Amino acid sequence: MDYSFGSVPSLTMRTIGDILDFFVFLGPKPEQVIQQYTWLVGRSILPPYWSLGFQLARWDYGNLTHMQQVVKRNRDAGIPLDVQYADIDYMDAEKDFTIDPINFHGIKEYFAELNADGIRTIVILDPATIDDQVHYAPTIEGIKEDVFIKWEDGKTLMKGSCWPGDVFFPDFFTNRAQSWWSRWALPRKKHRDRQTNG
Ligand SMILES: *[C@@H]1O[C@H](CO)[C@@H](O)[C@H](O)[C@H]1NC(C)=O
Repeated sequence: MDYSFGSVPSLTMRTIGDILDFFVFLGPKPEQVIQQYTWLVGRSILPPYWSLGFQLARWDYGNLTHMQQVVKRNRDAGIPLDVQYADIDYMDAEKDFTIDPINFHGIKEYFAELNADGIRTIVILDPATIDDQVHYAPTIEGIKEDVFIKWEDGKTLMKGSCWPGDVFFPDFFTNRAQSWWSRWALPRKKHRDRQTNG
């Protein structure tokens, strides 16, 4: 298809055929044209303002003291900090929804302090939970609630490898996986208290 603008002003389109759907966005201002166009094709999400800020994320702090030192060093140097992350080393044996009870003891209180200073905090979660069907409640419940991806026979759980070892992968396209995941991931006391791993 070829199209060209003329001086009238005009637009000439030449095509070999097929069905053409035309949408004309009249504005009249450019900003309104954008609004009308995104109304038609769908709008992207509006990220929270803070998520566009300065973020400090790294793996291998190793322990909470080290993280606190790095945060303090950056803030003392006048480097802006809007979001602080904890990578998988905050977890107990790299299992989702757990906290290393020794090296990251007190992270909750520390993050509350940062939050009080206007700094957001994020803990990383891997989209895979360990194949421990004896001690690890998220996987035990997940199997019971049929949340994990299976092979095409519809029965065998698809097992893979991730940080904690052998893992299963939640099928986030299903409502049951979403509600199972939210139950474990959302920081609500009644859910945390049910964990077997801290
Ligand atoms: C905390 O981590 C840092 C950096 O890895 C290390 O140098 C330090 O020895 C650790 N402290 C404790 C108490 O484990």
